[in-house]
Amino acid sequence: MSIEAPAEEAEPPAEAEATQEKASPAGATTLWHGRFAAGPSDALSALSDSLPFDQRMFAEDIAASRAHVTMLCDVGLLSADERDGIGEALAQVQAEIAEGRMEWAPTDEDIHTAVERRATELCVAAAKMHTGRSRNDQVVTDLRLWTRRAIDEVAASILSLARTLAERARQAHAADVRLPGYTHLQQAQPVGLAHHLSAHAWALLRDLQRLGDARRRTDVSPLGAGALAGSSLPLDPHRTAAELGFAAVFENSLDAVSDRDFVADTLYALAMAAMHLSRLGEEIVLWSSAEFGFVELDDAFATGSSMMPQKKNPDAAELARAKAGRLIGHLAGFLTTLKGLPLAYNKDLQEDKEPLFDAVDTVRLTVMALDGLLGTARFDADAMARGADDPFAAATDVAEWLVAEGMAFRDAHALVAGLVREALESPDPHTSAARLVELVSQHPDLGPSAAQRLAPGGAYRARTTPGAGGPDAVSRQLDRLDAALAAAAG
Ligand code: ARG
Repeated sequence: MSIEAPAEEAEPPAEAEATQEKASPAGATTLWHGRFAAGPSDALSALSDSLPFDQRMFAEDIAASRAHVTMLCDVGLLSADERDGIGEALAQVQAEIAEGRMEWAPTDEDIHTAVERRATELCVAAAKMHTGRSRNDQVVTDLRLWTRRAIDEVAASILSLARTLAERARQAHAADVRLPGYTHLQQAQPVGLAHHLSAHAWALLRDLQRLGDARRRTDVSPLGAGALAGSSLPLDPHRTAAELGFAAVFENSLDAVSDRDFVADTLYALAMAAMHLSRLGEEIVLWSSAEFGFVELDDAFATGSSMMPQKKNPDAAELARAKAGRLIGHLAGFLTTLKGLPLAYNKDLQEDKEPLFDAVDTVRLTVMALDGLLGTARFDADAMARGADDPFAAATDVAEWLVAEGMAFRDAHALVAGLVREALESPDPHTSAARLVELVSQHPDLGPSAAQRLAPGGAYRARTTPGAGGPDAVSRQLDRLDAALAAAAG
């Protein structure tokens, strides 16, 4: 016995009403209406239609349909005339969408439905376009094509930011600009500004490698997997893959339609990039404060306060710091969507697009803003030198001078620590640095040669080991950074 719900359909929620004109009116047909006596409710359409966000894959959808149609003709499932007629219809649909002339129909659930519906209006043979194909292999083909292109674009913008950092590093190096390096956000040891800027560039280069890994896993064609099980028709998935420029073809039809690893991989690579941009943003926020005074932002990359006339705020850097939260959320959210999904396609997978699109858009915007900000920022070499050339910042290097003279590092550390302590106990805190220089110069184990480490730039210049922050090592590093950037540009 079955218990029927009351005949009257429940009121759709208020939000659903706003999108009512998109929902299918009674009598309108979907691609799958044959088995159903009635169309979907407004509430269902509002929840499940993906056209509002997946229309941005229209070019990929049409490219994939073209490849599929070409293959269908090659294997004898379409005539050459049909193939050409469908090709012309698809070209027109592409132009209509690109030019904003496409008249979307209430039954257009997603971009695949819309393109096929319009192409069929223009050419009856387009009704054969879906032969041997399901939206399940179609959607993931489109998304792989979209992701491949998006990765290339976002990678190009990250590379541009890394180049800007490298250029600013070269300038800073030529001007011998040094700043205090920090640990625990306490001044630690002086390093070149070039060294510090390059550190961020190396991190971005790793992001490019991660994006490259994601791209390799994206570059696999799922077209020909059908709904889940392949086809009884003589399809040639290798032909469509080659047509679409995919590097590889799926091995298993179930895996092909349910695999969204490439989306998660891309979200991870982008979340890592956003995390790096966030750390860079935080340093710009700190450096542009009056307390640091290391950098002044160009007016084009700073904002004012509506109340405090003197303010110059680093909004772009703050937003770079903030956006990482959103990116990490997309990754965590999407992995949660995927976990526990049984094979093969489930409608849950439609939730792949919005986080991915937003992640790509957000990282690109953030990178562009930081690129402009860093390209135009003015670094204050004097403010940086005040910290970098503070004799206390050279304490480690004085201890290393003793080690080079044969003393055990522990003893050298203790000796210098004692002098630091004595200098800090001097009655006037403004003279403590001068007192340290005096103590080092006069100490029997140290003397004038050791005291040179405390002179402006002395400790910084002494650091020459591979990858170190002193100028000689940085010269070599900058050459390697340029080579890595050139390699990343491919
Ligand atoms: N809009 C759907 C998505 O994004 C397309 C696939 C729909 N397939 C289906 N069997 N309903 O995943």
